[in-house]
Amino acid sequence: MPGNSQRRRPLWLDADEQALGVIDQRRLPHQFVTLSLKTVDDVIHAIREMVVRGAPLIGATAAYGMWLAATNSMGHAPDPDHFRQEALRLKASRPTAINLAWAVDRVLGRMETASTAQVAVDLARHEADAVTREEIENCRRIGEFGRPIIEELSRANDGRTVHVLTHCNAGWLACIEHGTATAPIYAAFDRGIDVHVWVDETRPLNQGARLTAWELAERGVRHTVIADNAGGHLMQHGMVDLVIVGSDRTTANGDVANKIGTYLKALAAKDNGVPFYVALPSSTFDWSLRDGVADIPIEERNPEEVRWVQGWEGEGPVRVRICPEKSPAANFAFDVTPGHLVTGLITERGVCRATAADIRRLFADKIKTIC
Ligand code: MRU
Repeated sequence: MPGNSQRRRPLWLDADEQALGVIDQRRLPHQFVTLSLKTVDDVIHAIREMVVRGAPLIGATAAYGMWLAATNSMGHAPDPDHFRQEALRLKASRPTAINLAWAVDRVLGRMETASTAQVAVDLARHEADAVTREEIENCRRIGEFGRPIIEELSRANDGRTVHVLTHCNAGWLACIEHGTATAPIYAAFDRGIDVHVWVDETRPLNQGARLTAWELAERGVRHTVIADNAGGHLMQHGMVDLVIVGSDRTTANGDVANKIGTYLKALAAKDNGVPFYVALPSSTFDWSLRDGVADIPIEERNPEEVRWVQGWEGEGPVRVRICPEKSPAANFAFDVTPGHLVTGLITERGVCRATAADIRRLFADKIKTIC
């Protein structure tokens, strides 16, 4: 895997540039395993099974999925219908994160103009690289715009620890570099701000306990893993200065879909006067939607993910059932936090309120071209 510990990435091109390398995030933090994706089917499987996950990473991986669609068609004249079919299959792999469709359509748009198979490969590669590069830069800028929020709380606290609560994993594992929710935290930490992170475990798949805790530990950021339901108690007792989460899809008026349980954190934050921020790149906005609760598709995953938990004991992985054998379960993977519960959106263009007017102030160009 390329990169050093400061700049590891969750996806890369293999040395022969014929396949896409990814970290198998299902195995972290217990095992560090990488996989090589060679076909569109490999990419679909990796997204669906959450080998790769997190909105910006899903988008970038699917963008390279389109590049694999082109490389696997070498030897034939480029067939736009085939590329469109592959794009549809990729976009169907998970429903909630809008970054997926955004990235696939962007690469498809370039491939449709190709006159030869080699040109299709080159255009797809160029665009997938651009998506990846831009998401890294967007996350870096989110860090720069979010850092002052933490610095201000530190000043108001007379330099005492700033306690940030986050949900799920919106770190570099989800975003290639920096992360979205973690970018302001890393930026503040790098500036010497005393910061501590409350990490929601994030059932059922424990992306907080497994992935965010792993990232923060690697970086040396103080953190504590908490049960998903602990946040309200901590807020009531003044133990949380700020909540920052990521997003999988945010409407043009600021309703935020994110990992299931985010909404309850936002309600608790509102009740306790704790600022609740959402960090997201513009690729996560769905400019066509105005009512997140009614219109954002919420993924329902296999209930077995709720009925069983996976961990590590001694030398190996263990999987245990946590409910009666015949009890059914339901597995809603995301929820929607209405914009009125959000203090602000931290984007690559700055911080705005979660309202149609303030989002338009930063992104008028995107709203005009897409709506
Ligand atoms: O189901 P996941 O792990 O893909 O869900 C990820 C999240 O909910 C993240 O918070 C979101 O994608 C923002 S990532 C920067």
